[in-house]
Formats: sequence, structure tokens, C-alpha cells
Amino acid sequence: MQVNPWIAGMLAVTVCAGCAHRPGAAPALKAKAAGTAIVVVSGDKQVGFTGALLAQPLVVQVNDDQGNAVPGALVAVTGPHGVAVDPAQVLTDDNGQATIKVNSRGSSGRYEVTAMSQDAHGKTFTLAVAEYAAGYQEEVGSEVNGKYCSRCHDSESTTEQVSNYDNLAVKPHSFASGDVYNKFSDADLANIIARGGPAMNRSALMPPYGWTLNKAEIQAAIAYIRLVSDPPYAAPGVVYAKH
Ligand code: HEC
Repeated sequence: MQVNPWIAGMLAVTVCAGCAHRPGAAPALKAKAAGTAIVVVSGDKQVGFTGALLAQPLVVQVNDDQGNAVPGALVAVTGPHGVAVDPAQVLTDDNGQATIKVNSRGSSGRYEVTAMSQDAHGKTFTLAVAEYAAGYQEEVGSEVNGKYCSRCHDSESTTEQVSNYDNLAVKPHSFASGDVYNKFSDADLANIIARGGPAMNRSALMPPYGWTLNKAEIQAAIAYIRLVSDPPYAAPGVVYAKH
């Protein structure tokens, strides 16, 4: 009996649709072009709920050595255990960009998503992008930040918020500045947030929030600051047993 080519084709499609769900078994894509570098376009450093899809997709771009976007380059994306990326392999579009959905890690903390591609000689180049998985407390802190803090502490304006940073005579730091914030104890952070800059011999441009925020919200803001800190914050008193 002859195999009807249509049915054979359908079978192949069905079989491949099945394997596409198994990580690593997706039908291999072939690069149509090669670049030399991957850069992030948007979607890095997002704070997302643990285990949930990040609000914005991660967009990366493959460039050649002149800095021009390369359409048709193969990008492979991986995350640490518990982080799902979709698609895990993709060719860059007409703008040389690849758009990837990232499902946040299940446990809170900073994690990295890695995008990889290969140059014309088969040499791999990579880009590591930091994202943050927030548990309930950090998520509350992220909301406190968006509502009360980011207009001064974030120098970038967004579509929702115009930054006040440029108008400030004394510049606050971005909460990601681990080199600054990691030196503060939780108690010092709570003090300056509740009582304002002068409580810690600093500028009164840092307003007191002790009347606006309750203790839990101040602790949540601190948890958020610790989460996004780069370099990461190491809580004091955490001593690992030596063998
Ligand atoms: C109106 C602008 C403004 C807002 C809103 C604001 N801050 Fe500040 N903040 C400042 C300024 C200015 C400084 C720097 C003070 C100094 O160095 O003398 C500062 C400093 C700080 C510091 C000390 C570390 C640093 O960056 O120098 C902490 C901690 C802090 N702010 C937390 C917060 C939190 C949490 C919120 C939101 C609940 C907030 N701030 C909202 C202006 C602001």
C-alpha cells in the first residue's frame, strides 16, 4: 500500500507538534544570518510575581560588528531551573529582534535569563539579562515604590510617570545601587523612610513617610530595595556552616 503524502505530511506535523512541548526536542531552526553581539532592547530588570508571566516580554537584538541589526539570526534562550521561556529558539525578525515571554521563577530573588547566538564562524556569544521574582512582600514594596518613591529615585521617565529626579538639588540613588543601599541596615532604612532625610543627617528633600505608610509597607519597601539591589544584598548574620 502506498502512503498518501498528505497523510505522511500530517503525521510529521502531529509528531513534531508533540515534541515541541518537550524542552530541547523542538524542531531545530536554522540561522539565515549571523551577527556578533546580542543587546537588550527592553524587558530587562522587571519585577514580576513569583511563578507568573512578566508583564513585558524580553526583547533582544542581534547586531553585526558595525552595530547594525541582523534579521534571521538564530537566538536560543535559557533560564535557570523553574523559569520558562517561550520560545526557547527563535529567528530574529526584520528588525533583527527576538521577543521572548518569560515566566518568573517560583521562588523570590534575582535570576538571569541568557540569550545566545553564533557568529559566522560558529562562535557563541551571549547576553545575560537580570530579572527579579517578587514574593508577596516584595510585590507590595514594588507597589509602594511605584506610588511614592520612583518619581524621585528613578531618573528615567515612563509613559505613566514623569521623573522628578532632574529637579532635585540632592540626587537620590536608584534602589538598584547595591553599593549604596547594602551599607544600610534594615533599621537605618526604616528610620530614613519613616522620618525622612534629616533623621539620618541627610537632605530634607527625602520626605518622611511615617504618616503615609504603615510599618508593614515600610518593611515591604525595604524588601523591595533588597530584591533589586545590584550587587545583590547579603543579609548580615547569615553564616554558612563550615565543614
Ligand atoms: C521628593 C523626592 C523623593 C521621594 C518621593 C522619595 N525620596 Fe528617598 N531620597 C530623596 C533624596 C533627595 C535623597 C538623598 C538624600 C541625601 O543624600 O541627602 C533620598 C534618599 C533616600 C534614601 C537613602 C539612600 C540614598 O538614596 O541616598 C533612602 C533609603 C530613601 N530615600 C528611600 C525612599 C523610599 C523608600 C521612598 C518611597 C517610600 C522615597 N525614598 C521617596 C528624595 C525622595
